[in-house]
Amino acid sequence: MRIFLDTANLDEIREGARWGVLSGVTTNPSLIGKEEQGFLPLAKEICSLVDGDVSIETSGNDTESLVRQGHDIMQIADNAVVKIALTPNGLAATRRLADEGIKVNVTLCFSPTQAILAAETGAYIISPFVGRLDDVATDGLRLLSDICEIYAAQGYATQVLAASLRHPIHVAEAARMGADIATMPFKVFEALVKHPLTDAGFKKFSDDWEKAKPHLGELPPSMQEA
Ligand code: E4P
Repeated sequence: MRIFLDTANLDEIREGARWGVLSGVTTNPSLIGKEEQGFLPLAKEICSLVDGDVSIETSGNDTESLVRQGHDIMQIADNAVVKIALTPNGLAATRRLADEGIKVNVTLCFSPTQAILAAETGAYIISPFVGRLDDVATDGLRLLSDICEIYAAQGYATQVLAASLRHPIHVAEAARMGADIATMPFKVFEALVKHPLTDAGFKKFSDDWEKAKPHLGELPPSMQEA
């Protein structure tokens, strides 16, 4: 499962990329707006920082306009992916763009039938929103598992991107279900690596090593200075 950051914050993206595990970024109008920067320079910079897909969302709900925006988004960078909301007009635009070979991430998916329609348009990615369903007392992970099962049964090529993830258990469960991609805010990304036993174990090994060092004779230079 590929790990994406759900952010438009350049520092977060740089840090994620530094870890060597970041395969892409998803943005949305709310995340772009939060950064208070010019849209085109920001979008270009995000695309340059990531070696992988960067979803950039369209706005409005007119099919012709969505297709034009899709063409413009593709000019931003080679790794740009057009993000379109799952409405009838959005599906029509997705079909048009997909027929031209343009990658579309169909977003705001909340039901298995919506996911089937997105796959039938030839969408590159479907984004079911797990956390937002949990917020309204509906099992978001159940939707994700239904979509993974349906797509496997139908042999759809559309990739399943688990979106609106709120905590590490969402991420682990998405991987267990076979989601292709998980996108998450930076705080969830950071939480994936944290474990108190790792911290405690690392401290003990470091302290013991420092105590033992004077008695260990010659060390490789890199271990001497560490
Ligand atoms: C996905 O592409 C969306 O940007 C995102 O995951 C939405 O998450 P939220 O529900 O935390 O806003």
